[in-house]
Formats: sequence, structure tokens, C-alpha cells
Amino acid sequence: MNRTLRGFRDILPPDSELFSAIEDAAREVFRLHGYREIRIPTLETKELFVKSTGDTTDIVEKEMYAFTDGGGREVAMRPEGTPGVARAYIEQNLSQGGRNAKLFYIGPMFRAERPQAGRYREFTQIGVECIGNPSPSADAESISLLVKVLEKAGAPGCTVELNTLGCSDCRRAYRDQLLGYLKLNTEALCEACRRRVDRNPMRALDCKVDGPWLADKAPHISLCPGCVEHFDRTQALLKAAGVDFKVNRTMVRGLDYYTRTVFEVKAGALGAQDAVAGGGRYDDLIKSMGGPAAPSVGWAMGLDRAALVIKAAGAAPEEKGPSAFFVASGKEAGLEAFRLMSDLRAVGIPADYSNFDLSMKSQMRSADRSGADYAVIIGEDELKSAACSLKPLKGQAGQESVPFAGLASRLAVKPA
Ligand code: HAM
Repeated sequence: MNRTLRGFRDILPPDSELFSAIEDAAREVFRLHGYREIRIPTLETKELFVKSTGDTTDIVEKEMYAFTDGGGREVAMRPEGTPGVARAYIEQNLSQGGRNAKLFYIGPMFRAERPQAGRYREFTQIGVECIGNPSPSADAESISLLVKVLEKAGAPGCTVELNTLGCSDCRRAYRDQLLGYLKLNTEALCEACRRRVDRNPMRALDCKVDGPWLADKAPHISLCPGCVEHFDRTQALLKAAGVDFKVNRTMVRGLDYYTRTVFEVKAGALGAQDAVAGGGRYDDLIKSMGGPAAPSVGWAMGLDRAALVIKAAGAAPEEKGPSAFFVASGKEAGLEAFRLMSDLRAVGIPADYSNFDLSMKSQMRSADRSGADYAVIIGEDELKSAACSLKPLKGQAGQESVPFAGLASRLAVKPA
């Protein structure tokens, strides 16, 4: 028997319905904030991610599903959405007219990480990118948007953590300072950090082994006045928007393109993989890819993780069966039931059935299991009188006879 690959999974009802409900909530909030949908390919050139996500990041170094296709092209399954959106912005000339692009995407991402609770090799991100706006108001709006999506989706207990990494100038100066410190302390570094220290000293700050002690001991970044002002203003705007957050000076994020503001949303309910969402500003990425100067900010939320948070809080939407479950015996009754079902569905009343060729007893068992409000029973007597028997399935007593012609209006009235 064929089985799913490790880290890949089937999302079944009711989880799939919870996923859709979160997507619907996000789409509604995006619409209110002027974000429009972009659909980008799942497969891109490998080079796109090497150059934007960063060749010393874990994602590109170890986790990418990259391969040579039949035509000899080096391609990769997208591990994240930002590089593809940035590529599309340049390739499709979205900067035309000097307008900011406010785009969202929803779709699967692929990372060959070690699977564990909340960490999969295929997972879904809901992400946004606001391209072309250098103002701290774009940072604050983006973060507040994220909080609103989580609220609307019903995910409680989420905390926003905020930091600034400085602009490219601050980072350049800091990089040299940090490299000097790390070189003096090479012995104390883990093997991976030692290996990449020259190529990307900043990665050590994000390392699970060395990050914690470096946060204590290594020199901290000193920010230029522009970056201080940007960070202060972002915080003031977040407060004005009523967004709770805490500053976490040790947060660096594991992707190369960030400048200035970075943020994560954590949820205690998730355990080790506690980041529901992460994002930040990337002022230089699009230019470095050959596009126009387009300072940008965005985030991505792990849909799978948001669903875990909602489920852990018992806040998943109640499972709902159809209004009417049809039970019919005989060919003629089956025909009538089929017609009535179609009438109900046409006016927006959910209706279902199992199989009219089965015994009434077995059909009633399915009706009981279906979570329907009513069983609509059609046998010989009902056919003769052109009225079905309506049997409540949710604890109410009694059965009533409802003329076929009046069934839709009777069912439009919700049971008490
Ligand atoms: P990221 O932090 O790599 O950022 O991923 C964002 C979110 O995706 C994480 O917080 C987590 O919820 C989810 N996620 C990541 N990996 C996995 C996994 N293996 N299994 C389940 N969920 C996962 C980015 O991807 C950036 N592109 C975000 C961004 C957009 N920055 C600016 N714009």
C-alpha cells in the first residue's frame, strides 16, 4: 500500500474545514486592509531562493527540495513565499504607477525539516507583502493586520515579539564587530557556527546552540539615528492601534533579507515550535534582485500551527451536519427524494442522503450519525399523500407531516 511521505499528511474533515475557516477569516481581514491576492508558482529556479532567502540559512543549506528537472534546470519547491512575490513584482512590473503593492498569498510551502508536532515538510502559509512603503506605518499596519487575522480566526493566547536588526549600514558595521568577537571565541562555538562564521557571522545569533549565550555575551548592535527613529515610531504606532507587543532584543529570524523591524507571534499552546507567524521589513531585497528600490515589509503565518492553537483552545467551529437527511424506500420515493433534495439545495438548505437502495433501517442509522437536524422520510404512504415525515434528530420529540411543496419553507425555520 502506498503511504504519505514522512512530514507530508492528509488534512481531513473537520481539520480541513477549520483550515478553510481560517483562510476565510484572513481573506476578509485582507480585503478590509486593501490587500489583494497573488498566486505564485510552487516551483521556481533554485537560484531565486539561494539569492534571496540566503545561501547560509538552514532553509537553503539543508531543507530545500531542490532538484534538476528533466530539462537539466536547477529548480526548487518553494520553501517560503517572499522570494516568489519579489520576483513577480519585478517580472510583472508591479511597481508601475509608483503604487505600493499590497499582496497576500495562501499556499503550500516545502521544507525538509525533521518532522515533529507543528513542524511538517509540506505546510501552508498565509502571507502578506507590502512592497514600496518605507514608512514605519507600513510595519505597524502589517503587524496589526496579523493580530487581526489571528483574532478573527479565533486563535487566543498569541504574543507579538518585536525587534530591530538595523539597516544595511548598521548591519555592515555590526557584522565586522561581531565577526571580531566570534573569531576570538571560536572554541566556544558549535561546529556549524564555526564553519559559517566567515560567510555569515549573524547566523550564530540565530543558532539554537550558540544563540542563547551569544545574546548575553556578544556585543549588541548599535543603531543609526534613522533606525532608532524607525523602531520608536513603529512602537508608537502599534500602541496607537492598540496592539500589545513586547520587545525581544535577541530575536534575529533565520532568513537573510531582513532589515530593521522583525517580529514573531508566539503561542504557548504550540510547545517547541511556538511561532505561529513571523515576518519583518526587507528594504534591500527587491533591489538586490535587479528590481527598483522597493522597501517592503511582510509576514507569513503557519496555517497548520494556527489551526493547532485554535484546537488546543477548544475554539474550533462546531461540526455541523445538514439540515435535512433524506431517507427513502422504493424507486418512486427515491426519485421524489432526489428532486426535493435538489430543491432544498437550490434555496441554500443543506441536504444529504446515504443510498436510497439500502434498507430504511440502515438509512436511518446514517441519518442519526450525520448530525442532521431532521430526517426527511419518504415511503409509500408519504408518496400517496405528497407529504414527507419530518423526524427531528436533535432530541426534540414528535414527528410531523409536511407537504412536499412546503418542505423548504418549513426547514428554513431553524429548530429551537
Ligand atoms: P518563516 O518564519 O520562515 O518566515 O515562516 C513563517 C511561519 O511559517 C512560521 O512562523 C511558522 O508558523 C510557519 N512554518 C515555517 N516552517 C514550518 C514547518 N516546517 N511546518 C509548519 N509550519 C511552518 C517566512 O517564511 C517569511 N517568508 C515570512 C515573511 C514574509 N517575511 C517577510 N514577508
